[in-house]
Amino acid sequence: MDADARLSHLRAQAGRVVRHPLQELIAVDPARAQDFSLRVGPIYVNFARQHYDREALAALFATADQAGARARLQAQFDGQKINLTEDRAVLHTSLRSDLSSAPVARDAHAQALQARVRMRELIDALTASEITDIVSVGIGGSDLGPRLAVDALSGPSPGRFRVHFLSNVDGHAAQRVLAGLDPRRTAAVLISKTFGTQETLLNGMILRDWLGGTERLYAVSANTQRAAETFAIPADRILPMWDWVGGRYSLWSAVGFPIALAIGMDAFEQMLAGAAEMDEHVLHTPLERNLAAWHALTAVWNRNALGYATQAVHAYDERLKLLSNYLQQLVMESLGKSVRTDGSPVGVETVPVWWGGAGTDTQHSFFQALHQGTSIVPSDFIGVVRSDAPFAENNRALQANLLAQTEAFANGQASDDPHRAYAGGRPSTTILLDALTPYSFGALLALYEHSVFLQSVVWGINAFDQFGVELGKQVASRLLPALAGEAQADDPVTRELLQQLR
Ligand code: F6P
Repeated sequence: MDADARLSHLRAQAGRVVRHPLQELIAVDPARAQDFSLRVGPIYVNFARQHYDREALAALFATADQAGARARLQAQFDGQKINLTEDRAVLHTSLRSDLSSAPVARDAHAQALQARVRMRELIDALTASEITDIVSVGIGGSDLGPRLAVDALSGPSPGRFRVHFLSNVDGHAAQRVLAGLDPRRTAAVLISKTFGTQETLLNGMILRDWLGGTERLYAVSANTQRAAETFAIPADRILPMWDWVGGRYSLWSAVGFPIALAIGMDAFEQMLAGAAEMDEHVLHTPLERNLAAWHALTAVWNRNALGYATQAVHAYDERLKLLSNYLQQLVMESLGKSVRTDGSPVGVETVPVWWGGAGTDTQHSFFQALHQGTSIVPSDFIGVVRSDAPFAENNRALQANLLAQTEAFANGQASDDPHRAYAGGRPSTTILLDALTPYSFGALLALYEHSVFLQSVVWGINAFDQFGVELGKQVASRLLPALAGEAQADDPVTRELLQQLR
């Protein structure tokens, strides 16, 4: 049975399930409140408020099994070249785990350990210097993970360094980041896997000029030669990256240098340890008790069986407010594909639009639409059991809101007044971290990574290339001469818009 046939089988399950509202499924099977939940280390996840039942779940697990999910996971961990279009292994797991005996995975792990030794040395040297501020220059996978981790894991009191992020090519971004910084006490880290990314090269040059030379410039790249040539950065200030790490899976590598500068190398390694616990669980646990498989199959169910076009993530912890930005790249760059690995069209919908924000702010912006709008938006709610903020009443209010929203989404509320009625039946998953630590944070991100991979396995697509971003880059570079007034644009609409810009 091919991927499309397997998924159409799921639609038949959905036809049966949707005759029963979510509220009814829970009422007739209250044990699902416990049975549809899993714990891995510091993470507890409850799927009881998803609009499926035990029979549908069995069909979902069978789908993953028929797609060869276990073997595909092993192939990934073993460093087989599963990124077929780029002929590359996908070994971000080797940056934090040593779970495979395959020589290529062992070798990758050894290289990762060596890079960590060098990271520690550079951090020690910077700590002993007069540097107070670090500007991390990068974009996409070379920015979003470190930016999220630094925001999530920096405590309330100042660390040894203030770490700032610069990604957008818009010069206002550089202006804002540099305002108030002292070039004599600032170092910059240029992060780019390819060292060919326009935004990072242009911003890197702004930093080099602003710093008055390359003395306080560092780089992280898989193209060390280009980093050395373009910016004259000496080899001992360049940390490695490798073609077996995808950009959006790279915060575990030296791309995490800004994270380690902000929270310390030991805490950074705790983050890797948390991810490693999730790796171990995902690789070795049968699908039916495998957290990443549940999460992935829930996404597949919502997309292919129930037909929901978007998926939200609501972080009920201010420190995770950038999580949805990070997940947008992780999920949508990985799964935004319409052909299968063999190049044939996918016969089903793939990635939904991912979006979200931080509760409770979001309740006062877009939650109205989620409660009463015409589109159903399945949601991941993420909460933290033990708060680190010393405001007990606020913390209780935050948790009450989290519980209330998931309950209200699922159960709704009848009313004679149609304006005041809530249909309910809005599915959600609740994810609780015992506390927000580098360890639990690492485990959470690894969970999403594995879920994304397993979704790609069910859909038969490659989660590790991103050719869709290339066309816009090519057109932009063709248009640069036109913007400088040295050429004309071919496209009539672009020509008119250029006229307006000039
Ligand atoms: O957005 C496209 C992309 O290639 C991402 O996949 C990547 O994370 C980002 O650009 C940055 O690339 P680099 O690290 O090579 O500068």
